[in-house]
Amino acid sequence: MKFSINIDHVAFLRNARGENRPDPVTYALMAEEFGVDGIVVHLREDRRHIKDKDLQILREVIKTKLDLEMAATDEIIGIACTTKPELVTLVPEKREELTTEGGLDVKGQKIRLREAIKILDGSGIPVSLFIEPEKDIIDLSKEIGAQFIEIHTGVFANAKNESDYHNELSRICTAAEYAKSLDLSVNAGHGLNYHNTRDIASINTIDEVSIGQAVIAHSVFVGIEKAIKEMISLIRG
Ligand code: PXP
Repeated sequence: MKFSINIDHVAFLRNARGENRPDPVTYALMAEEFGVDGIVVHLREDRRHIKDKDLQILREVIKTKLDLEMAATDEIIGIACTTKPELVTLVPEKREELTTEGGLDVKGQKIRLREAIKILDGSGIPVSLFIEPEKDIIDLSKEIGAQFIEIHTGVFANAKNESDYHNELSRICTAAEYAKSLDLSVNAGHGLNYHNTRDIASINTIDEVSIGQAVIAHSVFVGIEKAIKEMISLIRG
């Protein structure tokens, strides 16, 4: 299983003082050196963490792969087509939310999402849809041309008791197996941490996990190298 790191929270910390430290690009390069398989950034409409300049520099310097999380808006689609990340992950985006709150409404946004996938695909960029682990949403994702899905693990991560935790884990497992049977690549992420990632990593139909906040937070205490390597050992056993 691969591990991509989401570095949005490094940019959050930098922006808190309007200075240029800590530099998310430096974090990305160090994370690559310590073994991650990819770098994820979410370029939000309000640019609250990652800025356009960060994206440009990352595109030039990273050696693994760039996964651009974004809403399916004309402005950001245009930026993606110029930047050419190795993957675009389409997510729902609300201005008032603290972080992405759940999977896409693929049914309600079908026409918009299909159009976005078509444009990005025309620029040679594969598209992943961030979705809830449900069969009909996976079917619809395939139907509108997604090559990847990213299963939202937030409900699993926030489970209040053992039974909810295991039910959600099994829902994710069933969804990942089903998506694989449709020939989709399967990523997973949101809310994964040093306690719950091993269970997700035991699902062998998931190709990659995308993790941010927990690893960035752990880096503050133990340093970037240890934080990344501890997560890699949880993911790869
Ligand atoms: N995947 C997606 C689609 C996300 O929106 C986020 C958060 O930006 C993550 C993964 C990473 O979540 P976390 O920071 O909770 O690990």
